[in-house]
Amino acid sequence: MWHFRLWDVQDVAVFLSVTLCVCHLTAAISISSSQRNLIRSVQEDVFFSVDVTCSGVPTIQWTFMSGAESRSIGTWQPGAFPNISVAYGSRVTACDNGSLGLSDLRLQDGGYYVVSVQDPAGNSRDVGFVLKVNEVLYEDLQYLSVTALALMVVAGLLMLTVWLLHKACRKIQASRRRRQMPEHDATELQPL
Ligand SMILES: *[C@@H]1O[C@H](CO)[C@@H](O)[C@H](O)[C@H]1NC(C)=O
Ligand SMILES: *[C@@H]1O[C@H](CO)[C@@H](O)[C@H](O)[C@H]1NC(C)=O
Repeated sequence: MWHFRLWDVQDVAVFLSVTLCVCHLTAAISISSSQRNLIRSVQEDVFFSVDVTCSGVPTIQWTFMSGAESRSIGTWQPGAFPNISVAYGSRVTACDNGSLGLSDLRLQDGGYYVVSVQDPAGNSRDVGFVLKVNEVLYEDLQYLSVTALALMVVAGLLMLTVWLLHKACRKIQASRRRRQMPEHDATELQPL
C-alpha cells in the first residue's frame, strides 16, 4: 500500500511537470541568436541573425540605442510588408525570422540594438546586441600613401634643384674661365 502511494505521488509530479513544461513552451517566445557582439568597419554590412518562434504571429521591433538616444529602426510581422523608419530606409533588410540586416555602416551606427518580440497575447521578450563600428583601415592607408606621395614629390623637387644648381655652377665656372682674360682685369679696375 505504502509502495503504491509513493508511485502515485511520483506519477502526479511527473504529470504536473510535463503539463507545466508544455504550457511554458506554448506560451514562451523564443529568440535564438548565435552572436550578440559584432565588430564591423565603416561601409561594411552587418546581419543580426535571430530566429524568433512564438505561438501565433509575432510582431518584431528593432530599436537602436546609443547613449541617451533611442530610435526605432523598424517593425514588422513575418510575411507582411515591414514598416522601416525613414532614417534607415533602404539600408535595412527585414527577415521573416526576425533577423535584421543593416548595410553601408556609419560610425554613428555603433551602439546597442534591441529586438523586441511580442506575441498576439501581448507577452513580449527582448534580446540585445552590441555593434562596434571601426573606422576604415583604408583611410589610414590613404593617409600613408598621400604622405609617401608628398615625400616623393619633395625628393623629386630636391633632386631637380640639385641638378639645376649643378648645371648653373658649371655655367658660372665656364663663364669665369672665359672672363679670366687680361682685358677683363682692366675693366674691373676701371675707376668710376
Ligand atoms: C534568418 O533568415 C535569414 C534569411 O532568411 C538567414 O540568413 C539567417 O541565417 C536566419 N537566421 C537564423 C538564426 O535562422
Ligand atoms: C510605422 O511606424 C511608425 C512608428 O515607428 C508609425 O508612426 C507608423 O504609423 C507606422 N506605419 C504603418 C503603416 O504601420
